[in-house]
Amino acid sequence: MNDSLPSSFFQHFNTEPVLVRAPGRINLLGEHLDYNEGWVLPAAINKEFVFALAPNQSNDFNIVAQDLNESASFSLDELHKGEGWVSYLMGVIQGILHKGKKVKGVDCMFTSNLPVGAGLSSSAALCCGFGFALNEIFQSGLTKLDLAQIAQYSEHEFAGVKCGIMDQYASLFSRKDHLILLDCREVSHDIIPFKLDGFQILLVDTNVKHDLASSAYNARRAACEEGVALLRKKNDQISTLRDVSHEALIASKEAFQKDTFLQCQYVVEEMARVKVGAQYLKENNLNGFGQLMYQSHYGLKDKYHVSCSELDFLVSIASDVGVIGSRMMGGGFGGCTLNLIEESKVENFMEIVKKRYPTQFDRIPAVYVVDTEDGVGVIS
Ligand code: GLA
Repeated sequence: MNDSLPSSFFQHFNTEPVLVRAPGRINLLGEHLDYNEGWVLPAAINKEFVFALAPNQSNDFNIVAQDLNESASFSLDELHKGEGWVSYLMGVIQGILHKGKKVKGVDCMFTSNLPVGAGLSSSAALCCGFGFALNEIFQSGLTKLDLAQIAQYSEHEFAGVKCGIMDQYASLFSRKDHLILLDCREVSHDIIPFKLDGFQILLVDTNVKHDLASSAYNARRAACEEGVALLRKKNDQISTLRDVSHEALIASKEAFQKDTFLQCQYVVEEMARVKVGAQYLKENNLNGFGQLMYQSHYGLKDKYHVSCSELDFLVSIASDVGVIGSRMMGGGFGGCTLNLIEESKVENFMEIVKKRYPTQFDRIPAVYVVDTEDGVGVIS
């Protein structure tokens, strides 16, 4: 945490705040499965937002984004979809009202060490942390699941991205040294111990975010729905790709356009991979798990078509160097690769990446070693 946050808050607002931290997430397997009611394997990480918040006995929200040197003030009757972090926060307030709860004005200051646009779900962390803090100070009685849905509502209605529930759920429910095996149909989870003796999780940030990311995201979701509509013609028990076996998909191949077929195929195959992967983790079979990570990447690249040359390049270097598992992470079209790597190989891998990536793309990659962390909570 930024130690100066409570004192900066006091200087600015002249009152003592409640402090809440809200982490970003990684996802080990199961990209683009959440909105298909599949399984995903995320965990919160030790990169986070910290909020300082106090009620101000009005209907006004006065908010300072400390790192950005920006601030915003608006009242409860001025909530509207707009640009940037203010819009996300307005979406959270609207989402709480939408759940039938009351909200009043607050003074708020926040800071973050979570990179934006790196595929680490900074917007989910922003929304979950703010919602959690409001729930805390107004004692609204919202559950963590309510808060995840409110954060998702903000993303859907105020940012226009029809995301699934993975990021918000992981930010709120995670536990240090564990992964969450989240069943996105039941919206409930199992917890899998994940303590990496002799290994590290290394994120390599391409430092690119291609413009088409959010429109392509919504287009992939629509392609999956189109696939379901086709498959339902034969079997009306199917409500999402979760209900579709690989055999059933192949049997209907003729009805599909090529890309839609490939995209649905990736989803069905990845669902199987997550189940096998969770079992491998329970058996401590990291080699097997790493292989699944590579397969997942190639599926995202060649079938789901959400990778980009920068991500593919980083995964191919990882494979050359013998990184145990490597794949693009998050929505795609930029952001980070996730690498499961032996500690003894980290230095060599980083050196090669830092040398070869800028030569190829005229851009410097960022590298983060991360660890799993507890989900959103109050800092005492
Ligand atoms: C983004 C979305 C998530 C999920 C991932 C891909 O992070 O917010 O809901 O769909 O992409 O797995």
